[in-house]
Amino acid sequence: MTLTALAPAKINLHLEVLGLRSDGYHELAMVMQSLDLVDTLRFTPTADGQISLSCDRPELPSGADNLIVKAAQLLRSRSGLPELGAAIELEKRIPIGAGLAGGSSDGAAALLGLNQLWGLGFSQEALLGFAAELGSDMPYCLEGGTRLCFGRGERLEPLAPGQVPPSWGVLLIKHPAVSVSTPWAYGRCREMRADFYLSREEDFEQRRQSLRLGPLSQALRGEGSLPLLRNDLQAVVAPEVESVTLGLQLLRGAGHPLAVAMSGSGPSLFALHRDLEAAGAARAELASALQAAGFESWCCGLLPAGVTLEGAAPSA
Ligand code: C5P
Repeated sequence: MTLTALAPAKINLHLEVLGLRSDGYHELAMVMQSLDLVDTLRFTPTADGQISLSCDRPELPSGADNLIVKAAQLLRSRSGLPELGAAIELEKRIPIGAGLAGGSSDGAAALLGLNQLWGLGFSQEALLGFAAELGSDMPYCLEGGTRLCFGRGERLEPLAPGQVPPSWGVLLIKHPAVSVSTPWAYGRCREMRADFYLSREEDFEQRRQSLRLGPLSQALRGEGSLPLLRNDLQAVVAPEVESVTLGLQLLRGAGHPLAVAMSGSGPSLFALHRDLEAAGAARAELASALQAAGFESWCCGLLPAGVTLEGAAPSA
């Protein structure tokens, strides 16, 4: 019996660094959105107590550092059943080290898939708790869709009950030879911006409330046009990574994008267009410039949910 889980990429529609927390993480206010650019994980139970991972991308470490393996080990240890084993195959489509939460989404898919495969019956709430232990973005990857994410990224709020994402098309680009380390990006942010960091909980809450009620949230609810997107890490990463500045310029110049920004700690970049057709037209217009600069590109739609088991209806 093999079980398949799908792990979507995310983009940040907003990433605001509010301050530094006592645990060393940054206090964030974000809006995240799942994309239909998806990794596939296949799980087969084994009777030998081994957890093994194979991947179609040899450059991806498949040992104990991989978030899929970490997720499997955590789930197994919390189940108290050390004899559980699984062979996991990963088909990778989400670019690695890109700011698209590919690794976190794969880990979240492992939690969901193995909970089912091993018949553990952990609740979604319990899985969200495990996810938060494994990585700041991982709870979001379990829930997915359009979400406000606070704290270090693990405190999730829906934008509005039953909200479905707009039918925008996303033109996503990334230079395959460039990747950005998330700890490095946050470290640089601290060096460059710590003087502007907030420190009081009431100031954090005021910023959260501005995001909940502000123009981006309204646009996502279909109540107005998109404002400029804010990603505080973009200003930190762009001066250091040439392809980010160039890619942003290219994306701004093709078609009539609703907005253009970097995702997460980069270096992937995206342009939002009114629909997939407009995103495809912008991609076609940019084809030779993207190729000359060495970028890979994708056209994606927005998904209403995060990781799912194949055959299961996504829960919005
Ligand atoms: O939680 P995760 O392991 O995904 O975070 C990776 C790194 O990113 C952290 O070690 C930290 O350097 C940085 N980070 C941060 N503040 C956050 C999330 C991540 O400083 N809210």
